[in-house]
Amino acid sequence: MSNTQQPLLTSFQLGDLQLKNRVVMSSLTRARATNPELAPTSLMATYYAQRASAGLIISESTWISPKAIGFINIPGIYTQTQVAGWKLVTNAVHKNGGKIFLQLVHSGAASHPEHLDGEIPRGPSPINLQLQVYTEDGPQDAVTPLAFTKAEIRETIADFKTAAENAKSAGFDGIELHAQIFTLIPQFLSSAANQRTDEYGGSIENRARLLFEILDALKQVWKSERIGVKFTPAAFNPGILKPDEQTIATYQYIFNRLNDYHLAYVHLVGPAVDLYGTTIAALQENYFGQFRKIYKGTLLSNLGFSRETGNRIIADGTADLVSFGCPYIANPDLVYRFAHDFPLAEADTNTFYGGYERGYIDYPAIIPVQ
Ligand SMILES: Cc1cc2nc3c(=O)[nH]c(=O)nc-3n(C[C@H](O)[C@H](O)[C@H](O)COP(=O)(O)O)c2cc1C
Repeated sequence: MSNTQQPLLTSFQLGDLQLKNRVVMSSLTRARATNPELAPTSLMATYYAQRASAGLIISESTWISPKAIGFINIPGIYTQTQVAGWKLVTNAVHKNGGKIFLQLVHSGAASHPEHLDGEIPRGPSPINLQLQVYTEDGPQDAVTPLAFTKAEIRETIADFKTAAENAKSAGFDGIELHAQIFTLIPQFLSSAANQRTDEYGGSIENRARLLFEILDALKQVWKSERIGVKFTPAAFNPGILKPDEQTIATYQYIFNRLNDYHLAYVHLVGPAVDLYGTTIAALQENYFGQFRKIYKGTLLSNLGFSRETGNRIIADGTADLVSFGCPYIANPDLVYRFAHDFPLAEADTNTFYGGYERGYIDYPAIIPVQ
């Protein structure tokens, strides 16, 4: 396929934003905010600027408040120092002609007292997620959380709103809500982790209430066409957060309701495993197509895509945009490599999370980026 005919390299109108191509850099935690303030650094600005030829960059997941923390050296967006650090990033990306959304996250019960000044993490219910949480002392077993009170739920929604305001001050082009894998929103969506008897638990509608209340709060700050949300209906996490008999109906409900939200996009992560024999076997055939039928807005597809499969899913109309995670670690010039069908470099997994320049800003572009 010639350069200009590639669907991935055609421009796309994302709400009021014109994207120069449909190659999206997926959110990648790299744990380089190695300072007590958890503020982005000039090293991070260099890293993102190197990748500005993507049609859109989605930042690494970023804590909305100190209570959201569940890992080490991940940046936040709740102090003015952090906002100043993010300005370095957004300025550098914009200077290189790129666009960047900030990904907002809360760990919920997937945290540890070491991250929370000794406080017990809050989750939907006092149920241990049975996974490990990475701390300064290495991986530790998750503790049994305390259930969020309603006042704490209100406070958390307000924290998301403040974080969204801070993202605006920091110069981002939009925000993406992290509603994937084992974090706060999937914990509420899960009938295993959420056994609340109030309006946040029980029925699908109740378990999805927090998601929509957070989106409603974000919409008070950003136009909906600048807000994306990322889901992993098929994520088999360690511990109790796994797809079950209600998963398909839960996401059908969510995708249907999101039609009224007119978001920038829904970012849908595909299955990493064969779904036959699982509770969501019905999603195995035409996974993205099934959600595409329900959701009428812009669909951003993710997981394991290559130049070839990315072009195909856009050409056949199943997705509008494709995001790339791992390929962006070692290929800052991924768009250029796709354009010329050059081979991709392999990333060193030892430097995925944490460290400094090595394995972060030293992957060469075929034609060096400024
Ligand atoms: C090192 C690493 C860090 C990641 N961090 C995040 C993150 O902070 N937020 C998120 O939504 N996904 C995160 N992901 C998932 C990626 O965004 C993406 O969904 C996943 O890697 C699948 O896409 P790929 O097959 O193109 O790599 C991470 C993945 C990797 C490998």
